[in-house]
Parts: sequence; C-alpha cells; structure tokens
Amino acid sequence: MGILVCRMTKGAPVYEQKKLRSSGKHWKCVLRMARCEPYFQARHFLRKEIGILNELQWNERFNIGIDKIDAAHQRLFSIVDKLIKLNEEEEKQQHACKEGIKYFKSYTLKHFAEEEAFMREIHYGRYPIHKSLHDNMRDNTIPALEYELEKQHYSVESVQHFLGICVGWLTGHIMIEDCAIMGKASNKWIHQTDENELESLEKAILQALKDLFRVNSELISARYGGEDFSSGNSLCYRLTYKSLTGEPPLQVFLAYEEQMILRILSMILGKQLARADKTVLYAMRILSEQFMDCIGKHFTITSGYELNKNDFLTFDQLVRTFHKEYPPYSMLFNVGGKGYMALCIKK
Ligand SMILES: [Fe+2]
Ligand SMILES: [Fe+2]
Repeated sequence: MGILVCRMTKGAPVYEQKKLRSSGKHWKCVLRMARCEPYFQARHFLRKEIGILNELQWNERFNIGIDKIDAAHQRLFSIVDKLIKLNEEEEKQQHACKEGIKYFKSYTLKHFAEEEAFMREIHYGRYPIHKSLHDNMRDNTIPALEYELEKQHYSVESVQHFLGICVGWLTGHIMIEDCAIMGKASNKWIHQTDENELESLEKAILQALKDLFRVNSELISARYGGEDFSSGNSLCYRLTYKSLTGEPPLQVFLAYEEQMILRILSMILGKQLARADKTVLYAMRILSEQFMDCIGKHFTITSGYELNKNDFLTFDQLVRTFHKEYPPYSMLFNVGGKGYMALCIKK
C-alpha cells in the first residue's frame, strides 16, 4: 500500500509516496513523525491521503437523493471497508478492531437518529415501520453481535460475522427502505387471487431482484430440477418459516452461483471482491432474508409465517431435497447477465 511521508528540505516539507505495509507499527511510526514540528502540516495531508487510499469507491446506485443521508451511507460503507482491511491484516490488533467497531456503532446510531429526524420533518408515512427496523438493528442485532465479539475475543470469524451482517443489512436496508423515503420504491403491484400464481411469483422475484440489486433478470426455467448451473461454487441457504396458524412450516431454498454474487456485490459496493469469504457468506444470508421480504410485498407467499431459521447448505444437500419431493415452486433465473440463481419453495 502506498502512503504519503513528509521529508524536510531547507524548511519546506516535501511529500513522498512510499510503498509500505500498512501494519499498525508503520502507521504509528509515520503518524508520530507527523506530530513533530515542523511536520505537523503533514498530518493533515496524511490523514487525507490515508482516507482516500482506503476509501471504498462509492456507487451512486445507493444514493437516495438527500446529500446528508447519502454522505452518511457512504461513510458507513467506508468504515466497514476499513474494518474488513483491518481484520485481514496478519498482525491483527484486537484493540484497533474493537475501537473501529465501537466507532462504526456510534456512527450508525447517529445516522439512524438523523434519518429519523428527516422522516419526521417530511411527515413520511412509513416512519413507524422504518423506525422499528432501525430499533431492531440497534436493540437486538448489534448487541447480539457485540456479545459474540466479546465472547470470542474479536476473533477473525466473529469480526467477519459482524461485518457480513452489517454489509448485508445496510445494503438491503438502503436499497429498499431508505430509497423508499424519497419515493424511489418499486412499483406497488400486488398479486391478485384471480391471477396465475406461478406467473405472479415470477414477476415478484424479478421485481425483488431489481429492487435489491438494480438489475434486470430473466426466468430460465420454471421447473428447475437441481441441475448444477454454476461454473464454480454455489452459495446455498435454507430459510425455514414457521406457521402462525398451525400449518406445516414453509421452506425456501436459495442457491446462488458464487461468481454471480461476487459480480453483483462488487457492482453494488464499488469494490472488486475476489472471493466469497465468510463476510460475503453472512452478507448473503441477510440479503436472502431481505430478498424474501421484497418478494412478499408483491406475492404473499410468506404471509402467516415467521422466519424461524436460516441455514447454510451445500449444493448436494440442496439437490437431495429434490430426491425426496419435487417442490411446488422451483425456478432458475439469470440475474442481470451476471450469473444464475435458483429459488425453490416447499410447504
Ligand atoms: Fe434507514
Ligand atoms: Fe440510512
């Protein structure tokens, strides 16, 4: 990684780009140097440069159209990006991770409060629902993740879990809920009982893919039978919904081609993701839940049900479900030309 260092020549500071490893030791050394007179001017440049070098390239797809809110969203992803890099360092410093996560949390809560104030100011109709989503993240999700971090002494895996959930939640929440504040929501179409169920479900899935990932997709097969569609690995999830009225549980199987996920997430985050590590795995887990919520807005497949479990599956485990019983709904989609995704629903 390149950083800016300051050298004095006859009283005038000269800034040089140096190739250094970004270990805590190096930063400390460079910052200590910047604190000394007459190098103090370099400190400002250093901070600016470090920020630019580490900054995640902001994708305008995230913009909702309110500068203050867009800037806060951009900042949140920038903090997450820095935490990902910090967690990947060989000589990971637990203290730095802890402080970074603490800062991310306080910035998130500050942003929630500002966004809520804005919604109240414009008398936004969905304010109570939107606020309850913020409250759930603040009062349940983040504390549970913090508990796990403490228990596991900020292990690489616990930090990946924390970051994956935050990336997935933020992506889905900004794309769907925050965009809706300024009317950038999907069309309001809802399946009617006299319409063909399969066609309506297909329409709802295509709309949810567009809302969440901003891509136009197409149905490849309405009778997907467990064929291997991936050129490499697949990421599979099983979402189990329990009935609130005593009906048998509902199971939703989602299988994504790994390359497709990497292309889509890279496009959304404006950052080239090379591999699907655990952060990506956890992010997709949350995005899968939000994806089903999106489908549910048009086609009430999960109404009367409550999400009970979300498991990781191998592709073989997914295929075995076809051997037992063919699911009533099983479809294969080409997601925006980026790769394939299968969705199967079983009651
Ligand atoms: Fe929000
Ligand atoms: Fe937001």
